[in-house]
Parts: sequence; C-alpha cells; structure tokens
Amino acid sequence: MTMVNFPLPRIDIDPALHDLLLPYCRISEGDIWIDNKNKHKVGCIDSANSAQVNKMMDKESASLAVQDPPYNFVAFEEKNLSEFIQWCELWINISYEILSVNAALYIWLGADQNNHFQPLSDFIRMMSNSGFTSKSFITMRNQRGYGTQKNWMSVRQELLYYVKGNSGFNINAEYTEIPKILKGYYKTVDGKETENLERGKSDNIRAGNVWVDIQQVFYRMEENVNGCFAQKPLKAIERILQANSNKEDIIVDLFAHSGTTLIAAEKLNRRCFTADIDPVYCEITIRRLENYRNNNKTGWQNSNPFADEIINNKKIMNYLKKNYHLDVSSIDTRKIAV
Ligand SMILES: C[S@@+](CC[C@H](N)C(=O)[O-])C[C@H]1O[C@@H](n2cnc3c(N)ncnc32)[C@H](O)[C@@H]1O
Repeated sequence: MTMVNFPLPRIDIDPALHDLLLPYCRISEGDIWIDNKNKHKVGCIDSANSAQVNKMMDKESASLAVQDPPYNFVAFEEKNLSEFIQWCELWINISYEILSVNAALYIWLGADQNNHFQPLSDFIRMMSNSGFTSKSFITMRNQRGYGTQKNWMSVRQELLYYVKGNSGFNINAEYTEIPKILKGYYKTVDGKETENLERGKSDNIRAGNVWVDIQQVFYRMEENVNGCFAQKPLKAIERILQANSNKEDIIVDLFAHSGTTLIAAEKLNRRCFTADIDPVYCEITIRRLENYRNNNKTGWQNSNPFADEIINNKKIMNYLKKNYHLDVSSIDTRKIAV
C-alpha cells in the first residue's frame, strides 16, 4: 500500500516523534547493515570514532568521500566553534585514512554571512594541515534563501572539493543541460577567426564552480524524503560521483541522513558505505534504497518512509493529530499502481 498526503514533520526537532519511530529501526548503535544485492553498507556509527568507521570499511578503501556534517549557525559562539572545528578534524583525519592513495573529498558546509562566514572560514584553515589538497570551492544556488532587507539574500550552498594524491577528474561530468546562448570571445585558430560557440566541445555550458542548474529539494519533488530536513539534491551528488569515481568504486558518506549518496551510488553502479549516528536516519536510508528498488522512486514526495506502519499505530497517529493537526481523512490509502 502506498499512501499519499501523508507527510511526516521534521524528525530532528521533535524528539518525541523520533522516539516513537525507534521501534521500526532494524539497526542500533554500533550495527552495520550490509546490502545483499550490491554490497552497500549502512552503519549506525559515529563518524568521529575511527574504530567504528574502520569496522565498516573492513580493510577496503574508498575512492571518494562526500561529507555533509550538521552545522547549526545559532550554536557558533567562539567556544562552540572551536569545538566544532576540532570535531571536524577527527572525521577529516578518518576520511583521509579510509580513502585510497588517489582519491577525492567533497564537504558540504555553511558560511554565516553575519558572523565572519563561519564555520566555513575556520574549517578551511583547519584543512590546510589535513594532508588534502584544495581543488575547488563550488557554489550551488539554492532557490530559498535567508537574509534581511538590508543585505544580499544568501542563496548559496557551499561545497568544498579536495583531493588526496592524484584523483582523476572526468571532464564530461562538467557539462550541464543548459544550452550555450552567448556568442563572442573570438580567437584565431589555424589562421581562421573563430567564435566560442564553434570552438566548444559541447553545445551546453559547463557547470564550472557555480552550479545554477540544480533544484533544491522541496516537497513537490519525487526525491523528497518527508521527515528529513537537510536533504541534498540527488543531481548534485550524481554529478560529484560522475566526476570523481568509476563503476564499482566505493563511495563513503559518514552523514547519511536521508541516504542521498547511497541512492546516487545505486543509480550509477557504485558501492556506498554510509553512516549515521542516529538509527532513525539509518532506517530511512535503508528504506529509501528498498523503495527505489521496489518502486523505482527516489523518495516519497508527499508520503513518508514509515507510512505503511504508522497508519496502523494509534499512538503515533494520535500524536500527529494532536501536535500537527494531521487530517486523517485527507490520507489517500488506495493502492497506487507503480
Ligand atoms: C546535514 S545531515 C546530512 C544530509 C544528507 N547529505 C542528505 O542528503 O540527506 C547530517 C546528518 O549527520 C548525522 N550525524 C550527526 N553527528 C554525527 C556523527 N557524529 N556521526 C555520524 N552521523 C552524525 C545526523 O544525524 C544527520 O542525519
């Protein structure tokens, strides 16, 4: 059965709802789930605990790591900022250890424009002693922003790209679906004056380090995972995987949340070893993979990963009715052909 009009509120800010979902989680702290079919792994582990991460790696190394740690601007007064950076250093060192000799690392981070662009600025400084080489500072344009009437609206999502050794880079991943429209930039080639449109390898523009062609995830999109707040767009992760990994490679993501990196790896025939400290997000990640395989859907749009169970769980249904005014009559429980 698939239900529609059955969203789930944000789990991260509702500990009571979080605990009501725990009984549905098949792994708990320290456990590592291994996918029978394609050998992906989901670990309920702490990204800063090297013994736990090494247990998940089981002596294999990854060619690419895509890390999306939690960062909360509100918490960043000076003491918390230095603690946050020290904590980042732990999982950065672990990432270095588990990557192969030639590998790539991407990190999603935030920069508070009202507070000296923290934590990004201290994070970048910390990275200079990490052994990684900086390669690019990518900006992904978000549709929604924050700011005031007196400043530029912040619509930027920062994404850092580093390498260890010599990571390969697939230039084809650089091209977007946006056609080139501007002419100009004349140059003489073999005695003939040419214009950039005729010289280019593709009719489309390159993504470069400013990505304007990726839609931020919102509830009308198929890939939306209700309950998860910090979901990254699948298209962005697919672009990263295509640029810096090959089929069969192992990709690591130590902050799984809604499991976006795992879905991108499944779609592109890579293996993904992903982790989250919270069993609820581990379960969502596993269910998202199963839902993708069973229904060919990348998310739940306006349903949710636990819909089939919680519709029959009076306690949770009453909780949602009381605290979120869930209108049960609007839930469509017909079986939807997929
Ligand atoms: C910003 S979200 C990642 C979003 C993800 N890229 C996606 O597309 O869904 C961060 C996640 O890190 C998890 N987390 C926080 N601290 C952690 C730790 N020490 N080890 C592993 N995961 C942690 C949180 O539970 C949260 O789900």
